[in-house]
Amino acid sequence: MNHGGLVVWLKAWADQVNSEKDFISDLDNAIGDGDHGFNMSKGLTAYLDARAVKPAETISDEFKMLGMTMLSKVGGASGPLFGSAFLSMSKDTAGIDELSVDDVAKMLSNALEAIQKRGKAAVGEKTMIDVWHPAIELLKKNELTQEAIDGLVNATIPMMATKGRAAYLGERSIGHIDPGSYSSGLMLKHLLTVL
Ligand SMILES: Nc1ncnc2c1ncn2[C@@H]1O[C@H](COP(=O)(O)OP(=O)(O)O)[C@@H](O)[C@H]1O
Ligand SMILES: [Mg+2]
Repeated sequence: MNHGGLVVWLKAWADQVNSEKDFISDLDNAIGDGDHGFNMSKGLTAYLDARAVKPAETISDEFKMLGMTMLSKVGGASGPLFGSAFLSMSKDTAGIDELSVDDVAKMLSNALEAIQKRGKAAVGEKTMIDVWHPAIELLKKNELTQEAIDGLVNATIPMMATKGRAAYLGERSIGHIDPGSYSSGLMLKHLLTVL
């Protein structure tokens, strides 16, 4: 993946989040406060606006622009979490023009660490970690597919939330897709198409 591929990835993700904004917020309505689609759309739109004014020139700067925008423009849990993830990716890609699948897997792995450092969630707590972690393991083995990503997102349905706002619902959080896992799944699906 070069810088052009990265931009294609991020724009496609932003477009899909924008078009599914209400659906994603509805997912959050069921187990949270109904703002996740709105939050992600706000952050990604602000990023597209920022890069339309002053395009980033490197992979690292592109991630930095997205990360800073998510951190500064998005409230809720997801802004700081995605923000730290993309800032970690910016740090990892400094001086690099082309990323192999292995580089991407390593970069995502470090970004996941940044998310976990900030959010303190582990696998099985019905958060975006439940998509990020197993997806990275599959990517490392070259086994990540669109269907596998759908499977990971759907696997959050029977889980009970023990982190994030959904944890307040206890057992009532069971039976719904985790919204952050859904938006992370969209991110990974579009990444996969450019790799
Ligand atoms: N501690 C955490 N670690 C990882 N992800 C989390 C954590 N808390 C919440 N999330 C993710 O954030 C999503 C909710 O994001 P959002 O609705 O934008 O923020 P908020 O919950 O503050 O309203 C959840 O679906 C979950 O995937
Ligand atoms: Mg919310």
